[in-house]
Amino acid sequence: MQLNQDIERHYLKEGLFEDILSRLKDQGVDLNSVKRDDISGVDEFHVRGAAVSQELARTIDLNGLEVLDVGCGLGGPCRMLADDFNCNVTGIDLSNEFIRTAKGLSKLVNLDSKTSFVVGDAVNLPFENESFDVVWTQHVQMNISDKKRFYSEIRRVLKSGGHFLYYDIFKKNGNEIVYPMPWASTSDHSFLVKAIEMHDILNELKLEKSTIIDQTKAGIDFFESLVAKLKAYGPPKMGLNVLMGDSTKHKLLNLLEHLKNGTLMLESGIYTKE
Ligand SMILES: C[S@@+](CC[C@H](N)C(=O)[O-])C[C@H]1O[C@@H](n2cnc3c(N)ncnc32)[C@H](O)[C@@H]1O
Repeated sequence: MQLNQDIERHYLKEGLFEDILSRLKDQGVDLNSVKRDDISGVDEFHVRGAAVSQELARTIDLNGLEVLDVGCGLGGPCRMLADDFNCNVTGIDLSNEFIRTAKGLSKLVNLDSKTSFVVGDAVNLPFENESFDVVWTQHVQMNISDKKRFYSEIRRVLKSGGHFLYYDIFKKNGNEIVYPMPWASTSDHSFLVKAIEMHDILNELKLEKSTIIDQTKAGIDFFESLVAKLKAYGPPKMGLNVLMGDSTKHKLLNLLEHLKNGTLMLESGIYTKE
């Protein structure tokens, strides 16, 4: 459990919800009519933010489905799935502060009846077998050492015929990783594997692979324009800097460099449970 506490501490930003409210007010946003767009710079904590979540969501017919987001962070993708795809979405995350903020943000944009959030561990999901039509995860498994348990739990809570959608960061070769990264300050909290290792586990679990997309180039293009904007204008009012503070630039540049030099890659994909 010490590891989980350390990971929670890595992500901790105390008073996060209140900070977001105060930034909205500073930008002149009326707190009684906040839109998802007003917070999308901060509530999607992965490379390419809201754009890639939309793309992933359009890969299958999600209308009206029951979805679980494993490692949901602040719940931006959960709100998008609820609002744009009429899903009922449950988000689970290790971080008490992220879950508190996720609940507050859903209420703020009137999506609290279609989204619910629980604090919990991805390798011990507090849900019955076959509870969800879709399980979704983005940029979480790098923090998880027991990959077999992680993917077995996902399979367990998925209904027969249900889909597993992922968008993740993987090792591409054996080169050393230089930290800090957005998900880990040091290698102690980082458990990167090659995509093939995940595919082997999913195959063993008898999940059936369909579309796989290499997202690395799209990620590099996104980061290069983000870093150029950071250099030109400094940190935005509502960006990932709200979550990562002073170390934002260092972490993003490290990740960009590893994607460019071929040490890391981004991949999304869909598996189906027969
Ligand atoms: C980089 S953030 C991504 C958040 C979200 N998926 C998104 O894309 O906006 C990684 C998240 O994984 C969560 N996490 C890490 N290990 C976890 C675990 N064992 N169980 C549940 N959540 C975990 C962290 O608390 C953090 O919110």
